[in-house]
Amino acid sequence: MNASELQRIATAMVAKGKGLLAADESSGTIKKRFDGIKLESTEESRRTYRELLFTAAPATKAISGVILYDETIRQKTKDGTPFPQYLSQNGIIPGIKVDAGAKPMAACPGETITEGLDGLRERLAEYHALGARFAKWRAVIDIAAGIPSWAAINANAQALARYAALCQEAGIVPIVEPEVLMDGAHSLERCEEVTSLVLSTVFHELFVARVLLEGIVLKPNMVISGKKAPDRAPPQTVAEATLRTLKRHVPPAVPGIAFLSGGQSSAEATLHLGLMNKMGPLPWALTFSYGRALQDDALKAWLGAVGNFAAGQKAFAKRARLNGLASTGGYAAEMETQAA
Ligand code: 13P
Repeated sequence: MNASELQRIATAMVAKGKGLLAADESSGTIKKRFDGIKLESTEESRRTYRELLFTAAPATKAISGVILYDETIRQKTKDGTPFPQYLSQNGIIPGIKVDAGAKPMAACPGETITEGLDGLRERLAEYHALGARFAKWRAVIDIAAGIPSWAAINANAQALARYAALCQEAGIVPIVEPEVLMDGAHSLERCEEVTSLVLSTVFHELFVARVLLEGIVLKPNMVISGKKAPDRAPPQTVAEATLRTLKRHVPPAVPGIAFLSGGQSSAEATLHLGLMNKMGPLPWALTFSYGRALQDDALKAWLGAVGNFAAGQKAFAKRARLNGLASTGGYAAEMETQAA
């Protein structure tokens, strides 16, 4: 493990004014997104869509890295440049999702354990050769009556730590993503309680597994009311509760925190990030690693039509730029209605 190289990559992933594009939807998930715009998911439609995003990204100056999926890291631009090569030539770090998904956890009804540790060392070596310099592993914690259980939190935190140690051995920066879902009707307070327990367990396990904190990026949920909660907490409360929780549980040795959007609307996710970055100084960079909240505008503008390619790119570029501004505290809600 080359500690200074890991640190250099992690710091570049959260460089000032920049964040990550999560474009690592599995074939099942991208099909759901395409169903939303009535587009058939084929290898070529998926390639075209990723090309739309990736070739629009450099000009935004707001994207530090892109999380790819196994199929995507092997695909090329239409003029034949492999996607990871295209991205690095344009100053964007290629990354790769390496978990094999959240599967039902034995003895824990309604809960999941993320799989994918077997053979991971070999897969990381291959992805590194293909150009990946960071990876992602998502653990999923659901809130409902009687859950999450200690068993599920603990097992998922241990898996995240073992994944992170393997990544660093391979010279790859691990994005450590323990996602507390915002599905359900729970309160912001319940989300704060669960997120606190999850983060403290994850950092304990990272310590036990000898993971170099300077060479990771944390990808957490925000502390937010459940989507179906009757009285959802306003943006300022979300920003304050999220920062309070992160300050309590994330050591300052971690170079950066890049949020997932988790089902927030694009504008909501940008606003929350912008509010938090106005509340500095902060011990770590605080930025985005959004999937849906970066892509929804682009998908709706594109709709899978050749003639809308440029409109899709424009919509993506605007959203990326607004999030870049939010990561420096320079975002204002009025910017939503201004021209791209
Ligand atoms: P969302 O921002 O759509 O939650 O996706 C981010 C991600 O990478 C989930 O693993």
